[in-house]
Amino acid sequence: MSPAGSPPDLHVLDTPEQVAHAGATRFVNLAREAIEAKGNFSVALAGGNTPKRVYELLASEEFEGAVAWPHVHLFFGDERCVPHDDPASNYRMANEALLSHVAVPAANVHRIEGRGDAKANASLYEDALRGYFGDTEWPRFDLILLGMGDDGHTASLFPNSDALDEQSKWVAANRVAKLDAWRITLTAPVINHAAHILFIVTGESKSVSLKGVLRDPHDPARLPAQLIRPFAGLVEWFVDRAAASRL
Ligand code: 6PG
Repeated sequence: MSPAGSPPDLHVLDTPEQVAHAGATRFVNLAREAIEAKGNFSVALAGGNTPKRVYELLASEEFEGAVAWPHVHLFFGDERCVPHDDPASNYRMANEALLSHVAVPAANVHRIEGRGDAKANASLYEDALRGYFGDTEWPRFDLILLGMGDDGHTASLFPNSDALDEQSKWVAANRVAKLDAWRITLTAPVINHAAHILFIVTGESKSVSLKGVLRDPHDPARLPAQLIRPFAGLVEWFVDRAAASRL
């Protein structure tokens, strides 16, 4: 049984732009709190398309000066097994939308290597996480941003995939049959140990899986986003009306 964390906070906004703006604002506030409290902010970025607008807003004039980027450490929730300049790369998307526009030190950007052996690269990324978080059973990210697929996957935790059952590794190489591809992903326990988890979900295509994840009986093999129940943190969903249309 996955941890029985706090019930998810669901925020339904009218448009994808409002969802992205709310997500950027939450990022700013959490970063400010963490940096004021301990001098740093660790965040794992989501991949895919939805969060791109959040990243663009964070790099925009409207949010200029809002984040103390030299104190931010940026990680990735998952990555495709492609070169970092490949159009499918989550790093490339984040770099184009955000990283190349803000003063985050290169050493603070912890990229997942997508070229070569997925299992070896997962192990390398786990080493990098342990290098940052130190000698602890589980890392505690200040924020983990997540999207959700129309099949209910999140990060690269896909339905009926092996990584769903991973309870000791921080990072897993996950063979995704439906994509005929390997992915590298944070594991559910790592995500569930975060202080704050923020799902950003928009569009009619997500309405069936969103209803399933939030309203159907617990069945994470079918709906992996149901695995996400923080042990001692908060999980929020920022969704638009189209995605929430079946709730
Ligand atoms: C990825 C993401 C994945 C994504 C969902 C939703 O690497 O693709 O980590 O979990 O969040 O697939 O993707 P969209 O935002 O493109 O719908």
